[in-house]
Amino acid sequence: MIGSASSLIKKVLLLTVAALFFVFQAAVGTAAAAEFDVETRTVKANPAGDTMVLSVKQAVKGRKLFGSTCSQCHAKGVTKTDPNVGLDAEALANATPPRDSIESLVDYLKNPTTYDGEYEIAELHPSMKSTDIYPKMRNLSDDDLTEISSYVLIAPKILGNRWGTGKTKF
Ligand code: HEC
Repeated sequence: MIGSASSLIKKVLLLTVAALFFVFQAAVGTAAAAEFDVETRTVKANPAGDTMVLSVKQAVKGRKLFGSTCSQCHAKGVTKTDPNVGLDAEALANATPPRDSIESLVDYLKNPTTYDGEYEIAELHPSMKSTDIYPKMRNLSDDDLTEISSYVLIAPKILGNRWGTGKTKF
């Protein structure tokens, strides 16, 4: 009798934990959906000005990957080792070539160049060309690069002035 009562209690407890977990997951999903609304997820796809809409899942993954791969140097959109070259919208738009679209950001991660576009800097900046020096870049797929890049464009819409310096010196 006592044995079966306690196993029933155990079952009820387990079910309660499972239900709470489910509710928690749903709440997290709802929060992400609210944070990344359609307008926020709509970003410039290429230099021609076409736009693309990321899914909530892609936006969440982009933020996570940016955190683990880039934030060591670019937390909150600044560049720690070179504050002149931030990731704010203005800095990206004024780079040569402009880096303010998904296509041009993915291109940067494949073949990074100086701000004036003169020199290739794959040995100095994490890239798909320099995975031997920057192992964090090693397992990134093209989709991952798109998602990381999307976060660079999405972040200022969520963080406003807390992303980047808000101005560039160029
Ligand atoms: C080890 C530090 C470091 C890491 C890690 C790093 N960066 Fe950078 N990033 C820099 C530096 C330094 C520059 C400026 C390079 C230059 O122009 O000389 C830069 C410049 C950039 C630029 C050009 C900005 C502009 O205004 O034109 C982009 C875009 C960029 N990084 C994106 C990323 C992304 C995305 C990641 C993660 C995949 C990343 N970086 C990881 C240090 C880093």
